[in-house]
Amino acid sequence: MVETLTPSSSYRWTQFQQPRRWIPSLFSNHKTLLTAFWIAFIFSVLLWQRDATTRISFFRRDLPVRDMPQLRPSAFNLTDFGGVGDGVTLNTAAFERAVLAISKLGKKGGGQLNVPPGFWLTAPFNLTSHMTLFLAEGAVILGIDDEKYWPLMPPLPSYGYGREHIGPRYGSLIHGQNLRDVVITGHNGTINGQGQAWWKKYKQRLLNNTRGPLVQIMWSSDIVISNITLCDSPFWTLHPYDCKNITIKNVTILAPIFDAPNTDGIDPDSCEDMLIENCYISVGDDGIAIKSGWDQFGISYGRPSTNIVIRNLVVRSMVSAGISIGSEMSGGVSNVTVENVHIWNSRRAVRIKTAAGRGGYVRHIAYRNLTFENVRVGIVIKTDYNEHPDGEFDPKAVPVLEDISFVSVHGEGVRVPVRIHGNSEIPVKNVTFRDMSVGITYKKKHIFQCSHVQGRVIGTVFPAPCENLDLYDEQGHLIRRSDSQNASDIDYDF
Ligand SMILES: *[C@@H]1O[C@H](CO)[C@@H](O)[C@H](O)[C@H]1NC(C)=O
Ligand SMILES: *[C@@H]1O[C@H](CO)[C@@H](O)[C@H](O)[C@H]1NC(C)=O
Ligand SMILES: *[C@@H]1O[C@H](CO)[C@@H](O)[C@H](O)[C@H]1NC(C)=O
Ligand SMILES: *[C@@H]1O[C@H](CO)[C@@H](O)[C@H](O)[C@H]1NC(C)=O
Ligand SMILES: *[C@@H]1O[C@H](CO)[C@@H](O)[C@H](O)[C@H]1NC(C)=O
Ligand SMILES: *[C@@H]1O[C@H](CO)[C@@H](O)[C@H](O)[C@H]1NC(C)=O
Ligand SMILES: *[C@@H]1O[C@H](CO)[C@@H](O)[C@H](O)[C@H]1NC(C)=O
Ligand SMILES: *[C@@H]1O[C@H](CO)[C@@H](O)[C@H](O)[C@H]1NC(C)=O
Ligand SMILES: *[C@@H]1O[C@H](CO)[C@@H](O)[C@H](O)[C@H]1NC(C)=O
Ligand SMILES: *[C@@H]1O[C@H](CO)[C@@H](O)[C@H](O)[C@H]1NC(C)=O
Ligand SMILES: *[C@@H]1O[C@H](CO)[C@@H](O)[C@H](O)[C@H]1NC(C)=O
Repeated sequence: MVETLTPSSSYRWTQFQQPRRWIPSLFSNHKTLLTAFWIAFIFSVLLWQRDATTRISFFRRDLPVRDMPQLRPSAFNLTDFGGVGDGVTLNTAAFERAVLAISKLGKKGGGQLNVPPGFWLTAPFNLTSHMTLFLAEGAVILGIDDEKYWPLMPPLPSYGYGREHIGPRYGSLIHGQNLRDVVITGHNGTINGQGQAWWKKYKQRLLNNTRGPLVQIMWSSDIVISNITLCDSPFWTLHPYDCKNITIKNVTILAPIFDAPNTDGIDPDSCEDMLIENCYISVGDDGIAIKSGWDQFGISYGRPSTNIVIRNLVVRSMVSAGISIGSEMSGGVSNVTVENVHIWNSRRAVRIKTAAGRGGYVRHIAYRNLTFENVRVGIVIKTDYNEHPDGEFDPKAVPVLEDISFVSVHGEGVRVPVRIHGNSEIPVKNVTFRDMSVGITYKKKHIFQCSHVQGRVIGTVFPAPCENLDLYDEQGHLIRRSDSQNASDIDYDF
């Protein structure tokens, strides 16, 4: 603003030498003052209006508003059901009324609920089939952080208990069971779990039940979650449980990278036919953790996670791993492709974790084109993740780990590029490495660490692979067969 007044301000510097210019100069200074006054006035109005609620609608008068596309035959506005987006009013009843209205439109192609810009505080609510939840730019659904408002639900059948406490568990903020055809999308609106209070209570051991996820969809199919931001979940962020045909794309998932316990990004759990792509995930636990139930409960539930594609992601996990499988994998995990994934500033990049007692299997897992940037341990397979629901697990139920390939793995700033720690009960079978070059931060010898691993290296791999693996040339001709698959060279000191 001041720039436009430059001519008159240059008069000011010269006014004493040039008295004839004194009057026009005063006149223009007067204009300056007036302009400044108006700017000050507008800003104070703005500040006064800033108070969360009206801030966006204030700006909306100046900026073109992105019209919300109509994606269902009928569309509603949350305000039609009495919603108030002031960040203080509880909107649970408005959401419930909207969902009830949409639940009656199933035969007519369902309905869309538009959440306009604003801060929409709510307790947990359920979705319905044939529903699209559309979050406008600047729309924020806020989860109430008082656990009294969170309903308790029975434990997941494949877990037997709440994951943190025996007995019931808190449901999720946005929940669905036995649904078909559900879409959660928008112009990058946000679902904010306000997890801070939960994390604090968890650490102070003030909670008697397992914390609830932000979004949990159970026993459902044909689910799309896209173009939104999920943040500060009390517990796991997005938890599809025993679902089929789920697409998650172009979603941003955020939580503090420290002191936000168990805020996993996405946990596909006993799910089939799932695509996760073009997401940015930076959270306080695993970025993604593919699961399928816990020990004897997961074995008897018997539902695997299978046919999962994860691609084009950027992930950061300072305390856990970018992409994990397990540790709860008792229903089995198979046919998973992880490609074009960049993992940065993380403790571990990709990890498979399990233990005796889990049972199940992890097989047909293909990692392709992974980039590691500043991670402590790149590839991890851990077979002693002994966290059991109770003493009733069967120690003879050993998981099978096989047919796992790593193709095109690159990066820099990695301390230990590979640590595959099988044991005599749980050997890791048929592992393939091809085209790998990872810049290391320590010139130590034992940084490609193996124990009870059978498999091969094809072509050049840097750093030099462990002696457990067979060596092949680029053309696939055997160069040297390993005679020490069961050797152990694991060093947790670095
Ligand atoms: C929703 O309702 C509010 C309040 O009536 C209105 O300001 C807003 O424009 C409506 N939005 C849509 C998308 O209809
Ligand atoms: C959602 O539906 C489930 C299953 O019917 C029920 O147990 C739960 O209490 C419902 N949650 C809310 C917040 O109404
Ligand atoms: C991703 O979502 C944002 C809004 O959240 C949108 O502007 C952008 O076009 C989307 N990108 C793709 C590839 O869909
Ligand atoms: C969506 O919003 C989040 C959080 O404000 C931001 O980090 C992200 O870059 C946005 N995504 C797009 C595609 O604009
Ligand atoms: C947990 O249980 C204790 C003892 O029964 C009770 O005093 C406390 O209020 C409970 N806390 C919550 C968050 O329900
Ligand atoms: C998967 O879900 C999408 C979105 O609802 C749907 O368009 C598609 O037809 C479904 N695919 C199958 C094989 O059912
Ligand atoms: C995401 O947003 C982009 C841009 O608005 C749109 O083209 C795309 O269809 C949306 N994707 C989904 C899956 O909703
Ligand atoms: C593996 O998963 C992909 C992607 O979901 C699917 O196209 C393919 O058919 C699956 N393969 C088998 C053998 O099931
Ligand atoms: C590998 O993944 C990166 C993203 O991490 C992507 O930019 C690049 O194009 C991918 N390369 C190939 C050959 O697909
Ligand atoms: C080893 O795993 C690869 C996939 O990584 C698979 O194509 C191959 O058939 C497996 N070999 C054996 C002997 O099972
Ligand atoms: C390696 O250990 C497996 C059991 O995990 C055993 O079956 C196999 O004979 C051992 N191989 C060698 C060469 O000792």
